[in-house]
Amino acid sequence: MNLLQSAKKIAAYKAVDEYVKSDSIIGIGSGSTVVYAVERLAERAREEKLNVVCIPTSFQARQLIINHGLFLGDLETHPKLDCAIDGADEVDFQMNIIKGGGGCLLQEKVVASCSEQLVIVADYTKNSEKLGEQYKKGIPIEVVPMAYKPIQQKIEKIFGGSTVLRMAIAKMGPLVTDNGNFILDWNFPEGINNWEKVNTEILLIPGVVETGLFIKMATKAFFGMLDGSVKERT
Ligand code: A5P
Repeated sequence: MNLLQSAKKIAAYKAVDEYVKSDSIIGIGSGSTVVYAVERLAERAREEKLNVVCIPTSFQARQLIINHGLFLGDLETHPKLDCAIDGADEVDFQMNIIKGGGGCLLQEKVVASCSEQLVIVADYTKNSEKLGEQYKKGIPIEVVPMAYKPIQQKIEKIFGGSTVLRMAIAKMGPLVTDNGNFILDWNFPEGINNWEKVNTEILLIPGVVETGLFIKMATKAFFGMLDGSVKERT
């Protein structure tokens, strides 16, 4: 396993060991780091006979839960969660977070909003002072397909920067999310620091479904570091 993968793994394992208790409802995030969290959760569920219901945040998460033999639930049967464990594309020093690099931000945010705690698991490349320092792909914004063009124009006019319609890989045309929407990646200009206000303003644009800005949502972030340690941010 290379250094990046083992950094993801140690962060995910620590989060699961510290935050998952028996008789709890756990949100399962999306992305490459969450794969290790589910691996550890399944190991603990087997060894400790944990009684845990897992709520997925994407098609990927649902498959991870099923393939590991974990108990699958949803927000209809379990509208309140104890903890959601999810990855991040970047986390700043104030715990402002960019998510959605893998295209799954909407369900992730809904599940996190129903959870007592949101715990982020990430490798050292996600640990930044400010947003945009390391993650260069911009802020993902999920939009209704018919509105993508006017939304692009409005965001660029209001905030500056540029927006790109995310394209699919192995299919011609745009990426379509688990919810049937498109994603715009907003390469924002330098100097923005009031992310809460920016997030609220973007959400007010008709046709915007959700943003990948997770502000004041995470309780804790675990970063797997190059030296094998895990750095924590609260
Ligand atoms: C999925 O769309 C994202 O929000 C992921 O949680 C995020 O991209 C982090 O993924 P990795 O764990 O693969 O870096």
